Amino acid sequence: MAHVVTPWEVKGNVDYDKLIQEFGVSKIDPKVLARIQKHTGELHYFLRRGIFFAHRDLNFVLDEYEKGNKFFLYTGRSPSGNTHLGHLIPWIFNKWLQDKFNAELYFQITDDEKFMYRPELSLEETNRLGYENALDVIACGFNPKKTFIFVDTDYGKTLYKLSVKIAKKVTASSAKAVFGFTDSTNIGMYFWPAVQAAPCYLPTFLKGKPVRTLIPAAIDQDPYWRITRDIAEKVGFPKPAAIHNVFLPALTGPSGKMSASHSETAVYTTDSPEVVEKKIRKYAFSGGRDTIEEHRRLGGNPDIDVSYQWLTFFEEDDKKLKKIHDEYKSGKMLTGELKEILIEKVNGFLKEHQRNREKARKNLDKFILKD
Ligand code: TYM
Repeated sequence: MAHVVTPWEVKGNVDYDKLIQEFGVSKIDPKVLARIQKHTGELHYFLRRGIFFAHRDLNFVLDEYEKGNKFFLYTGRSPSGNTHLGHLIPWIFNKWLQDKFNAELYFQITDDEKFMYRPELSLEETNRLGYENALDVIACGFNPKKTFIFVDTDYGKTLYKLSVKIAKKVTASSAKAVFGFTDSTNIGMYFWPAVQAAPCYLPTFLKGKPVRTLIPAAIDQDPYWRITRDIAEKVGFPKPAAIHNVFLPALTGPSGKMSASHSETAVYTTDSPEVVEKKIRKYAFSGGRDTIEEHRRLGGNPDIDVSYQWLTFFEEDDKKLKKIHDEYKSGKMLTGELKEILIEKVNGFLKEHQRNREKARKNLDKFILKD
């Protein structure tokens, strides 16, 4: 099945090389990696493993940085329910970039977007979920002095001023072409891309001098950056740069994205160890063979095995990961054993995350930006 990748839907087996062509972004090549490493000393394993794989204008951001012009980070979350492990991937990387480049992070929580997009959700509910999701952001360990989280409808005064400047320059036909809107799409959604574009220019607006933005996020968000970059000059702001990650695959299959509304496809940050165990044992798509005899003889396929794929996102140790890969591929390790390794890894990660998430409740105010 051909892939579909939009900010609201990811379907099919995503072909990332093809996506690079379709979206007109650049692949992260060894030259860019070497440039990053020059400043960071080491490469995050997300970079070493191609989890962050594409970019727009990263070289330009680094050129400016080398001249002493700092950049800030921008990323976000649309609160529809629980945060799942996939959402954390760009946030973990943002935290690494914040530490390595001493960068400020602006984090948008889009209670307005989810309210307009999902007919069954009230604004009160998306707003409440927004603050719950903010706990997961804070739990990633961001520096409170350098991190500014805002929930759109509670930061409207500032955001609205920027959004109208952008909205004036984007026509309905370009919104239709980029986002697939139709005549039955509500008019709030037509305005919405201007609101997600606005924070790209927020520090420039707040500080009154041009500042470069770097947006680390999954590639599904790229259509926003395309329109934001197209109109940047017209509104008199610098073009944002972006760095894109691949998707943590759904538990149920190697293709597509996890969904916050289909609980069997995802592990949520609030899941108990027992729930994690049950989900992985029951649903994790296996690259193993039909019988143990066949598996021992022919070996498993780590390229399609979701437990192995997930370990590439959560097992930091390259040597350990390679050993698992080789043993699974040779048939020495069975799917059941691989799943147990993943269960232990995810539960270890979540134990720490859940502790930090609870601590974050009393620190929320230190992070929230209000008008
Ligand atoms: P949302 O809430 O769908 O997703 C939040 C972030 O998680 C990324 N993501 C994933 N990354 C890896 N694996 C997955 N399976 C996976 N699923 C989602 C998304 O790319 C996103 O970075 N409209 C946005 C909210 C937003 C935003 C932003 C995101 C507002 N401003 C600026 C990024 C940057 C949204 O619906 O994200």
